[in-house]
Amino acid sequence: MNDFKERIAAELIAVRDRSLAYTEADDDLLIRQHSPLMSPLVWDLAHVGNYEELWVLREAGGITPLRPEIDDIYDAFKTPRKDRPSLPFLKPNEARRYIEGVRGRVLDVLDTIDLESPSPLHRDGFVFGLVIQHEHQHDETMLATLQLSRQPGLVREGDLPPGRDQGREEVYVPAGPFFMGTDTLPWAYDNERPAHQVDLPGYWIDRLPVGNRAYVAFIEEGGYDDPRWWTAEGWEWRRRKGIVAPLFWAKDGASWSRTRFGRTEALPMDEPVQHVSWYEADAYARWAGKRLPTEAEWEKACGWDPERRRARRYPWGEADPGPSLANLGHRAARPAPLGAYPAGASAYGAEQMVGDVWEWTSSWFHPYPGFRSFPYKEYSEVFFGEEYRVLRGGSWAADPAAVRTTFRNWDYPIRRQIFTGFRCARSERAA
Ligand code: AVJ
Ligand code: FE
Repeated sequence: MNDFKERIAAELIAVRDRSLAYTEADDDLLIRQHSPLMSPLVWDLAHVGNYEELWVLREAGGITPLRPEIDDIYDAFKTPRKDRPSLPFLKPNEARRYIEGVRGRVLDVLDTIDLESPSPLHRDGFVFGLVIQHEHQHDETMLATLQLSRQPGLVREGDLPPGRDQGREEVYVPAGPFFMGTDTLPWAYDNERPAHQVDLPGYWIDRLPVGNRAYVAFIEEGGYDDPRWWTAEGWEWRRRKGIVAPLFWAKDGASWSRTRFGRTEALPMDEPVQHVSWYEADAYARWAGKRLPTEAEWEKACGWDPERRRARRYPWGEADPGPSLANLGHRAARPAPLGAYPAGASAYGAEQMVGDVWEWTSSWFHPYPGFRSFPYKEYSEVFFGEEYRVLRGGSWAADPAAVRTTFRNWDYPIRRQIFTGFRCARSERAA
């Protein structure tokens, strides 16, 4: 195998090791539904194998289906998450055997496939990028399920760099055009394409995500009791659900705590806020006299290099995200403190734009001009419209393979079981 194939094989193995580690648990924990928002963990496990079979073995490899009778069970569009517990899904040991069988053949296909073939599925190993990123996304989903289960002991702790004094609160991004999206990153999804010029007026964006200390001030100054800060739907949602703080937070007397993977601990005031909905983020921003950044503002502040007039893969450049650059790839089961990554700053000086927490933007999930669905409509296209808000950057539970300055994630504005925070922006005031 050549170097590129070796790298693909290593990525396939690494993501699978992680999926298996997170599902090393009693059958009951894997089969049970911990929240109607999530699938049983063992469904996610076999679903990633079935996706690999569909795309690498059948579509790219021309191999006949191994178990066509289970396809419907693992088709995310046939059964919504809340109904998945009643599916006749494979039991844990059977699921592990199935995905292992698929994987063996996937490595055989990798051995023989021509990665220079003009077929867009083969070229640059796109189909392997597709399944690797898919499995990483499901690993993050499984972590959200584990967090909701409040099951202790499943997620390891790790070391993260200390926070540092934050100095300047906002960075300025001067007016001017930049290229949003990409034509060149080989594993980019269809929704990141094509690259297109966007001309933005000057704006300010927070240097760091909003932290727990600032968010507590919003709560304690009555932010959840004042409809002025909320959109009409946001206020209605907050009131109906009785929402008074981020998910997994509690107040005992005068002090705030949070529960993280089954353990309750004092709320770390210097971490980015996590587990807030779009409505909460939007209300906070209004309370702070700011607003959420648009998706274009977020991407320019994160990825644009104004000197070389081109986009970077990561905020700091092209180097892989080592431990001093970003909190990605499950280094620890939490965001890093604010200011932990000065070396990971973008060209404009914004920090912690990738890693730590996904960041809500004010934008709906729309296609870029010239969008073409590839390789299937159900990855992106069916979600376009004014139903989902765009999230950017990637959380501590996202992997570098599925993170880049152009990567787009999306969810309903009410969702907060995901590892999501935000930062604020504001327009330049006319002089
Ligand atoms: C891009 C994270 C919204 O989890 O629904 C997983 C990714 N697509 N399987 C999701 C995805 C198909 C998707 N998100
Ligand atoms: Fe999936």
